[in-house]
Amino acid sequence: MIKRILKWTVSLILLALLIWFEIAYWTSTNDCDRKAAAPSNPMKAIVYCDYGLKNLKLENIEKPTPNDDQLLVRVRAASVNPYDWHFVEGTPKIMRAMGVGLRKPKDTRLGVDFAGTVEAVGKNVTQFKPGDEVFGGRGGAFAEYVCPRANRAVALKPANVTFEQAASVNIAGITALQAIRDKGKVQAGQKVLINGASGGVGTFAVQLAKSFGAGVTGVCSTRNVDLVKSLGADHVIDYTKEDFAKGAGRYDAILDNVPNHSLSECRRVLNPNGKYVLIGGGGPNDSRWIGPFGRIIKTMVLSPFINQKMGMMMADANHDDLTILADMMQSGKLKPVIDRTYKLSEVPAAIAYLEEGHARGKVIITVE
Ligand SMILES: NC(=O)c1ccc[n+]([C@@H]2O[C@H](COP(=O)([O-])OP(=O)(O)OC[C@H]3O[C@@H](n4cnc5c(N)ncnc54)[C@H](OP(=O)(O)O)[C@@H]3O)[C@@H](O)[C@H]2O)c1
Repeated sequence: MIKRILKWTVSLILLALLIWFEIAYWTSTNDCDRKAAAPSNPMKAIVYCDYGLKNLKLENIEKPTPNDDQLLVRVRAASVNPYDWHFVEGTPKIMRAMGVGLRKPKDTRLGVDFAGTVEAVGKNVTQFKPGDEVFGGRGGAFAEYVCPRANRAVALKPANVTFEQAASVNIAGITALQAIRDKGKVQAGQKVLINGASGGVGTFAVQLAKSFGAGVTGVCSTRNVDLVKSLGADHVIDYTKEDFAKGAGRYDAILDNVPNHSLSECRRVLNPNGKYVLIGGGGPNDSRWIGPFGRIIKTMVLSPFINQKMGMMMADANHDDLTILADMMQSGKLKPVIDRTYKLSEVPAAIAYLEEGHARGKVIITVE
């Protein structure tokens, strides 16, 4: 009898979940379905109503108005991150159930990193004034205007840095800084390996790890060996010829932008008290359902039982770290590496290029 009750209860719960999922899926919507009249004060922005690169469109939408705590920034340049293609493709698909939008993207705007000129400030804003050149991060940056909150991820752009260079910094630069300083706790004299040293995060990480006084080994393909050396790497491993996980080198920290080795392979080349920092989550076609979550769980489960520290990181964009990076750029200690530049109308092509997984530094969008 108890068995039958249990069986029926489980079946009913499963049925309820299935019905809930079906309803949630089919009612999943976004503001494209509620489109109103033509914008009274238009600006151009990249908008997507459905998942997939082919659905990105450059449209006229309402220009934003800053609230009391925000700035109105005229965007001069933006940069593309793997973060953007996760939202464009809606992958890993588990993200869709985590609030990104089951059937359609909930937020129809794209882009985060920007640099531009302040046009107006809210009445509580004292840190910035119209005319200031700023850079940082704010959702919807593939547009002519954004409204970042003054006390969040925005900072003054150094005068000797172009808008394109400044726009490249927010996600990649902050990720590299926090991975080295906060997660890797890198100290002068330590040995650091950066897997994926020639990409957006990697090119910042090599320079930053050097500035922390570390001995840096960068891993990249043949065509990027000279680039990574020029950024200050003491050793470069060409992954087409040599596997760092089978080599004789031992490291105090591994920053992993390309999780293409098992955790035990990485542990083999990590010193007994070394730190493994998982940054990257693979490409758009890797593990489309759960993406990096399987590896994240493995690092969390393993870490408490071993001396080596294994963990993932999530970049936290903020004013103070942007200011640290701005100061380093101003003093010439940090130079963003720019691969290609696209126009705002070419955002789909820029994202498609990044999805190939072989950008050399950062991919930039210029906004006229
Ligand atoms: N956790 C976080 O908060 C956070 C923040 C930012 C980014 N991320 C993630 O970190 C990863 C890297 O971001 P990114 O902006 O640097 O991406 P990216 O610019 O697209 O990285 C491209 C680079 O990856 C290199 N690469 C590809 N296959 C490689 C391999 N087998 N071995 C070594 N390098 C290889 C490429 O070098 P070659 O052309 O020489 O192959 C290329 O230079 C992404 O997965 C991204 O989603 C995470």
